[in-house]
Amino acid sequence: MTTSPITVTVTGAAGNIGYALLFRIASGGLLGPDVPVRLNLLEIPAAVKAAEGTAMELNDSAFPLLDSVNIYDDVNQAFEGTNVGLLVGARPRTKGMERADLLAANGGIFGPQGKAINDHAADDVKVLVVGNPANTNAYIAAASAPDVPADRFNAMMRLDHNRAMSQLKEKTGTAISDIKKVVVWGNHSADQHPDVSYATLDGKPALEAVDAQWLDSYFVPTVAKRGAAIIEARGASSAASAASAAIDHVYDWVNGTKEGDWTTAGVASHGEYGVPEGLIFGFPTTSAGGEWQIVTGLDVSDATRAGIERNIKAAQEEIDAVKELDIL
Ligand code: NAD
Ligand code: LMR
Repeated sequence: MTTSPITVTVTGAAGNIGYALLFRIASGGLLGPDVPVRLNLLEIPAAVKAAEGTAMELNDSAFPLLDSVNIYDDVNQAFEGTNVGLLVGARPRTKGMERADLLAANGGIFGPQGKAINDHAADDVKVLVVGNPANTNAYIAAASAPDVPADRFNAMMRLDHNRAMSQLKEKTGTAISDIKKVVVWGNHSADQHPDVSYATLDGKPALEAVDAQWLDSYFVPTVAKRGAAIIEARGASSAASAASAAIDHVYDWVNGTKEGDWTTAGVASHGEYGVPEGLIFGFPTTSAGGEWQIVTGLDVSDATRAGIERNIKAAQEEIDAVKELDIL
């Protein structure tokens, strides 16, 4: 077992995703079965008591890897020495709220959190933004942390990736472990472009097993609108699957992706596939040595090109709106 614990800060810790996430972190799912963790929970003052209840349960679980649980309502204290930051807490859109109001409210959360990470986190900090709109919130946090490389701020696209895998499994009966090289380009929003152009099922091209009609009329909209379908069914946003995807994302970032496969991560573009530099965008990615690499050189079909362009436009519009609000 590594001796010194890794500090993991979770914002929105008393929320639904937080409740599903914290126990998996404490049991070793996030970093590995030999890595002790120190959990820092950040909440707004009104939810600190609920976070205290969760901390009691975490301690009562007697996880061997759990070094300590600390609760904060102060952003600077919460990110002191943070190695991994999971930015889950966000302002949900409420009835009558305009898009600009939502962006302004979230800018007021992710700007100060980015600054606190810049000023207080460990040099090796890795940040995954889950709170919506995840890509724009990650962009705001990264822009507020000029001393931290932009590559360390990710947006969660792994839930979309996992949803795409699940739909392929359901359609073709292929085991998840035999489905490779799926990608969801773009944003964690209904604009996203789930793509099986490069995917294999049991080593054979996915495009030989599924037809264009199913892909266009069922697969793409089902994956892209899955979040809304879950809200409709559950009366609440996805929580356990979102937590599971956050675990998958950070585990792969830290421990590496599997040989012969890639995953989807929302990472800062360096201009790949024509995506403007700095946009935090879902790309096919591999990880090694704790760093993501965007998979380059893929042949892009007209449909994929159109999907990428649609997402660039949507992401850019959101960032322009944030800039107009003087958040950045
Ligand atoms: P929730 O409302 O149950 O919990 C959110 C928590 O965040 C609350 O406890 C709230 O007190 C806290 N919070 C609000 N502002 C905060 C701040 N400034 N600092 C610290 N904590 C703060 O919501 P949830 O179901 O846990 O979802 C959280 C976010 O994740 C939402 O924005 C949701 O839309 C998003 N989400 C993203 C994905 C994805 O794939 N990227 C998937 C599902 C949900
Ligand atoms: C999801 O994809 O499940 C969520 O992002 C939906 C939401 O709006 O919270």
